[in-house]
Formats: sequence, C-alpha cells, structure tokens
Amino acid sequence: MIMLRRLCSHRSLTGLSVISTGSLVPCHKIQKRSCGDFHSPSGVLPHASARVLPGFVSEAEEESLVQECSKYVDHLDYQYDHWDGVIRGYRETEKSRWSPENSAVVERMRRAAFGNDVTIRPRVHVLDLSADGYIMPHVDSVKFCGDTIAGLSLLSDCVMRFKHEKEPEKMVDVFLPRLSLYVITGDARYLYTHEVLKAEESVFRGTPVQRGRRMSFICRQPVARPANQQTVLPNLNSAFDAENKPVYS
Ligand code: OGA
Ligand code: MN
Repeated sequence: MIMLRRLCSHRSLTGLSVISTGSLVPCHKIQKRSCGDFHSPSGVLPHASARVLPGFVSEAEEESLVQECSKYVDHLDYQYDHWDGVIRGYRETEKSRWSPENSAVVERMRRAAFGNDVTIRPRVHVLDLSADGYIMPHVDSVKFCGDTIAGLSLLSDCVMRFKHEKEPEKMVDVFLPRLSLYVITGDARYLYTHEVLKAEESVFRGTPVQRGRRMSFICRQPVARPANQQTVLPNLNSAFDAENKPVYS
C-alpha cells in the first residue's frame, strides 16, 4: 500500500486561531498581491522553502486539464473516509499520459518546480476536492516522496496552512489563488505540516476566501536513493482497485 501522507496533529482543527493582519482586503486584491511572503503574526516559513507562482496557467489551460481528467473522476463519488484519514470530500486519480497541449503544461510545471531534473515521477496526482472537502495537517510520506512537491490549484482559491510540527505556534497561512502553482521544499516540506482549510475556515488576512470545488495537480519528486538501492517508484495506481477506489491493505 502506498501511504502518500502521514497524518499529524489534529490540534489545528479545534480551537483555530484565525490569522489576521487587521485590515480587510478584498479577495481580488489578494490575488494581485504577492501571496508568497509567507509571514504571519505567528510564524515565518523559512526562506525559499515555499513559493507560489500566481497565474501559472491560463483559464483555457485550466479548462483543458480539467476536461482531460473528467472522464477519470466524474463518475466517482466524493469520499469522506480516506484510508489514511487525511482527506474529506475528495476523489482522485493518477495520470501519466496527456494530450499534447496538456503535456506541455505539465512539462512547464515540472521545469518550474524541479528545474531540468528528468527523474521526476512522470505521473501527476489529480485530486478533486468537493466544495466542502478539506485536507487535514500532514507531511507527505518521506518514504515515497522526495524533497520537492509542486501543485497546481485549479477551479477554486484556497488557503494552505503550514504548521511547524514541533512548535505548532509557528503557523503560516498561504493564499493559493486559482491558476497558481505552489512549490514546497526543505523545511516547509519536512518540518511543517500542510493542510487545505475547510470552506468555513478559509480566511486569509482577515478576508473570507470563497472556496468551491478545487482540483489540484500534484507532482512529487522521487526519493533520492543510492544507486545500489534503487527501487521501482511507487505507482499510486497500484493503490487503486478496478473502480479506482483506494485499496486498503
Ligand atoms: C496531498 C496534498 C495538496 C493539494 O495530496 O498530500 O497535500 O494542493 N494536497 O491538493
Ligand atoms: Mn500533502
């Protein structure tokens, strides 16, 4: 079984303290500001370990990516009992073959995130979160994912929260606008949990963020291993049964 995520503290789900900088900022203004300074009253994400590139894809590219995935996900029900306990209200698949146009976008995403490293997992994890779906705090498995994780946020804005695992008072909320790419590496990937907030908790700098159905396209770097210990990269598809439901084993 492929455990892509490790569940962490649930403390953030109760007694949430909403990060606020005081002044209310309309959402369309948030979009235009940098969402990547990664400071908040309660923490600072270590420099260069998290980046957000707003407007990484166009609306036409978004539509084309979503459309190509729709035949794999549209017939699935949203799940509320994820086998690793981290996600509610989701359906997912993994894709490695794309139309020429979409393949160019995926390639652009890989280059932006990983440079010219050709050893990146060729598959893209497609995660479709319903409007009421959310992702609880977790760190992606260090066994199966390498140093860098990149994700395209499509169809909806959202707030991704980072919280230091050992010092949970260090907490930073990052606004992920629809059409943006985020890249997490280093401390943000290993020392901080990440989560995608519920609709009703989605507030950024005091402004509610409208959450709808959101699709993310996630590329993960493989784990670096010495040449004599190379293993076959995990195939997420092996964790799905014929109906594309995760297999518990
Ligand atoms: C995950 C995850 C974030 C996203 O699947 O492990 O953290 O952008 N997803 O959907
Ligand atoms: Mn994750």
